[in-house]
Amino acid sequence: MTPATLAANRPIGVFDSGLGGLSVLREIRTLLPAEDLLYVADAAHVPYGNRSPAQIRARAEVLTGFLVGRGVKSVVVACNTATAVAVTDLRARWSIPIIGMEPAIKPAAALTRNGIVGVLATEGTLASARFAGLLEQYAGRARVVTQPCPGLVAAVEAGHLDGEHARALLRRYLRPLQEARADTMILGCTHYSFLVPLIRELLGPDVAIVDTGYAVARQLQRRLHDGAALCAPARSGTEHFWTTGDAVTGASVLNRLWGGAPALQALRPGEG
Ligand code: DGL
Repeated sequence: MTPATLAANRPIGVFDSGLGGLSVLREIRTLLPAEDLLYVADAAHVPYGNRSPAQIRARAEVLTGFLVGRGVKSVVVACNTATAVAVTDLRARWSIPIIGMEPAIKPAAALTRNGIVGVLATEGTLASARFAGLLEQYAGRARVVTQPCPGLVAAVEAGHLDGEHARALLRRYLRPLQEARADTMILGCTHYSFLVPLIRELLGPDVAIVDTGYAVARQLQRRLHDGAALCAPARSGTEHFWTTGDAVTGASVLNRLWGGAPALQALRPGEG
């Protein structure tokens, strides 16, 4: 076996503060059906959105270390908040491709017809220097209106995707963006992708919703292709899931969001 084949057969690691990153994992699975995927939900520390950058960096290092210890060939930070404050440090420490994600300002600025773009994201993402840099670089003439969404991540973690609780939160967070007449709405947090049916219902058909999961999967594919590290296509990839939180509660929401009742293993503190 050549070294390239060895690298290509290694799994891909993906992590998020919780189960929201499954929306990115789904895109990766669709685009790269042969790859083995390892997913870690840091449910003991969710939400990241109101934690300090130092705390989030520390968690991102622990989780990346865990995945690297399991031999991954690449790590996807399926979390806008962790990317905003930790991806630079992760890339400095590990030489494998570390794929991050950020609110899609550039595509949204190209898409808007009336020049008004709304961003739903966590407080951490919106307060980060990386987000300020994105605006400066890509917003162009678009007016970008931002909205932090406390409580929304917790709702998704609890599997509340379509009930009155999620609806009331979303009504409250979408209102200022609707009043600003945003015709393009960026989902700047991976958890919010699971709320798209509800968001669509509340916004109506005329507002574009911009999500980043597919672009992240494409970027991963490109990086692996460039490094000759894509798996041979003639096989079916596997998925393994871990949580730092309660595995029993997590398993029922994992089943709801991913389907197929996959096993959810507990990640002990010494490991992650
Ligand atoms: N899903 C994450 C994101 O994309 C983190 C949400 C949180 O834990 O606050 O930002």
